[in-house]
Amino acid sequence: MSGDLGAGKTTLIQGICEGLGIKDYVTSPSFTIINEYNGKLPVFHIDLYRLEEIESIKDLGIEEYFQKDGIIIIEWAERMFDLLPKKALKIKIEVIDENTRNIVRD
Ligand SMILES: Nc1ncnc2c1ncn2[C@@H]1O[C@H](COP(=O)(O)OP(=O)(O)OP(=O)(O)O)[C@@H](O)[C@H]1O
Ligand SMILES: [Mg+2]
Repeated sequence: MSGDLGAGKTTLIQGICEGLGIKDYVTSPSFTIINEYNGKLPVFHIDLYRLEEIESIKDLGIEEYFQKDGIIIIEWAERMFDLLPKKALKIKIEVIDENTRNIVRD
């Protein structure tokens, strides 16, 4: 997922998690980088906001998660676009105005 600060990435992920029957309060991972939730499918929620450097992203071993069963949702995924698997669904949220968002496949 990509989109400006406050575009609605976390909000969309909360909806996806609710749809998967996850009861936990879903919020952006801040100190942990990755939050894991278990619903109908496991969800791995990653937020790369604080990671500017592609090298430090490589150090995290996020690519190991691509082998796991489940859904991996990445906020600020543009920071590792080159590392994403080809089958990744790229979703971009654009802010139109205070109450309107445009969600496109990137
Ligand atoms: N589809 C939407 N339509 C209108 N407002 C929305 C929508 N999605 C989210 N918002 C509002 O936008 C604000 C920011 O949402 P959210 O925290 O999900 O954004 P974010 O992209 O995850 O931000 P960040 O870049 O800080 O991680 C919240 O106040 C939320 O209620
Ligand atoms: Mg967020």
